[in-house]
Amino acid sequence: MKTALIFGVTGQDGAYLAYNLLNKNYIVHGVKRRQSNLNSASRLDIIFKDPNQQDTDFILHYGDITDANNVFALIAKLQPDEIYNLAAQSHVAISFIMPAYTGQVDALGTLNILEAIRASGLETKTKFYQASTSELYGKVLEIPQSETTPFNPQSPYAIAKMYSFYMTKLYREAYGLEASNGILFNHESPLRGENFVTRKITIGLAKIKLGIEQQLFLGNLDAKRDWGHAKDYVDAMSRILQLEKANDYVIATGEQFSVRDFVECASKHIDLEITWKGNGIDEIGIDQSGREIIRVSKEYYRPVEVEALLGDPSLARKDLGWSPKISFEALVEEMMISDLALLRDGGIPNPF
Ligand code: NAP
Ligand code: GDD
Repeated sequence: MKTALIFGVTGQDGAYLAYNLLNKNYIVHGVKRRQSNLNSASRLDIIFKDPNQQDTDFILHYGDITDANNVFALIAKLQPDEIYNLAAQSHVAISFIMPAYTGQVDALGTLNILEAIRASGLETKTKFYQASTSELYGKVLEIPQSETTPFNPQSPYAIAKMYSFYMTKLYREAYGLEASNGILFNHESPLRGENFVTRKITIGLAKIKLGIEQQLFLGNLDAKRDWGHAKDYVDAMSRILQLEKANDYVIATGEQFSVRDFVECASKHIDLEITWKGNGIDEIGIDQSGREIIRVSKEYYRPVEVEALLGDPSLARKDLGWSPKISFEALVEEMMISDLALLRDGGIPNPF
């Protein structure tokens, strides 16, 4: 029976990955930060409640990747077969407001884990996965982006993640760690954080549909992303760590949609039909009964915008046998239905 340790288990990907590994009979250890609210692990509630899972296979520990002693103690004690570093200040816009904090967590936090693996003598036993990101491509220098595309990061978040990307590669090459980067493009789900654009749209539209709010304010409607489903992407993470030889992989769908496309697609699922009027900051989205339900606000623009990301997952297809199973349309529909249920009925359909 394999043992995995997940830093960032309380986040979107942490919940899907824990569920994925528990279903493969792993013993899963997760690291959770101390929060003032005891229910901060609410994404994991369904896993704990699932009658098919034994709670003893899923163990939560308090910790924080910025605390080197805590990270070392956990890794030295658990000696896991696999470590997944999903922990991060993961919001790009917030990284401009908190650049130093973002660097402490997203750059130096990763170093703490790599050093702990080395100091515990686990270089060849423990496989390490680093949650790298398509944000490294930033103002893109090639379309689509693959493992050989040069990086051109455009935010404190992306620059901190670039440090972690290269440290992971360095520890693989210098010390023989079985350490891999997954360069994941945007992936979403009903468990997505509420201030990322996809979830903000599905919650916002659900509120409008139910008459709780009248308007949804967004930023750059022209931004384009390669959006996949978190369930597919955690499967890729696990596949990366089953390889004989560690390597870095782009995980993406190879399809691109704009924020405007996302709004239109989500609206359809709650019988709203949007037409657009105006340009840039003055653009508005109007529904079939003439209500101005989407507006643009400067507040949601970033100091530098990453306009368009599109991944080429060919290497993952070849080496990992991985390809996404859930389409953009199915993803948006699931999120829209889930948020409508959350606001109308107080609970969501099982996201796993
Ligand atoms: P998320 O929902 O924001 O989850 C981040 C997790 O990190 C949470 O569990 C959070 O704990 C934890 N965390 C934050 N700071 C920490 C610290 N100092 N010590 C320990 N844990 C800490 O992010 P996600 O969408 O699941 O993404 C997972 C990882 O993949 C992140 O590293 C993200 O940057 C990266 N990534 C995400 C995407 C995407 O589209 N989702 C794409 C590429 C890469 P709390 O619950 O206590 O806040
Ligand atoms: N958050 C947000 N809120 N974004 C908006 C809004 C808004 O109101 N309006 C437009 N956008 C645009 C952003 O400017 C960006 O171009 C795009 O929508 C996606 O924004 P986010 O959903 O916040 O995600 P992100 O692409 O910046 O970052 C996510 O994906 C990265 C992988 O490429 C995060 O999950 C990162 O952690 C991840 O690394």
